[in-house]
Amino acid sequence: MARRRKLYEGKAKIMYEGPEPGTIIQYFKDDATAFNNQKQGVITGKGVLNNRISEYLMTKLTEIGVPNHFIRRVNMREQLVHEVEILPVKLVVRNVAAGSLAKRFGLEEGTQLPRSIIEYYYKSDELNDPMISEEHITCFGWAATQDLDDMVTLSLRVNDFLVGLFLGVGLRLIDFKLEFGRWYNEHDEVQIVLADEISPDNCRLWDVATNEKMDKDRFRRDLGGVKEAYQEVARRLGVLPEAGPMDLKGPKAVQ
Ligand SMILES: Nc1ncnc2c1ncn2[C@@H]1O[C@H](COP(=O)(O)OP(=O)(O)O)[C@@H](O)[C@H]1O
Ligand SMILES: [Mg+2]
Repeated sequence: MARRRKLYEGKAKIMYEGPEPGTIIQYFKDDATAFNNQKQGVITGKGVLNNRISEYLMTKLTEIGVPNHFIRRVNMREQLVHEVEILPVKLVVRNVAAGSLAKRFGLEEGTQLPRSIIEYYYKSDELNDPMISEEHITCFGWAATQDLDDMVTLSLRVNDFLVGLFLGVGLRLIDFKLEFGRWYNEHDEVQIVLADEISPDNCRLWDVATNEKMDKDRFRRDLGGVKEAYQEVARRLGVLPEAGPMDLKGPKAVQ
């Protein structure tokens, strides 16, 4: 394959120039990091699984009309996406107390929140992704009020949809992180779309029956069985290639 120009190498993915202007190739690595790069490791096969899982979830979101960057999967580790101007604000949607929220407010992990909440973090490795408020976002021009409105509306739709989708395969969606970008569509109109990836790297997923963690917390907390957990998520969603990439089953509903 002709060597493409590398645009950016992040912690979990590499972005290459795409075949047409305005497109990029997302290459999913097996590298895992946590606590802003302080902990590093490799989860063999993670890139292949996250590529599949994110493809599946983005495709479903397209079907319900949530605009996103996904175009198509290219191979085991790569997908073609629209290039967007990433907004430097990460949105975290929480349904159940866990991680930093549980720690900050002294809540027991697993406490159901009375309603879903959204938190904002400034995307900056140097500053350790500090938590921010709407005031900071609009004051520093990281996103316009209308953009922020769109991101919140989309995040809540994504949450409602994904909570149901995961519940159908026996997983509780505890919380997750989303990134959005500005996309100039075919008519040169600017639109806020969902970008990056949705995978066990940035979702907390717990088994409904056992509360077992099925996400990157297994890596963060040295719980073992990290690869197996990612595989199980893929298997339940029906996107784990069992006898090869062509052998894909549909989602396996849990009674
Ligand atoms: N469609 C897109 N267009 C441009 N940049 C994107 C797109 N989707 C994701 N990105 C950015 O590419 C990078 C993905 O690589 P990743 O390894 O996750 O990086 P990071 O270490 O910054 O989290 C992220 O910085 C993300 O914001
Ligand atoms: Mg990332």
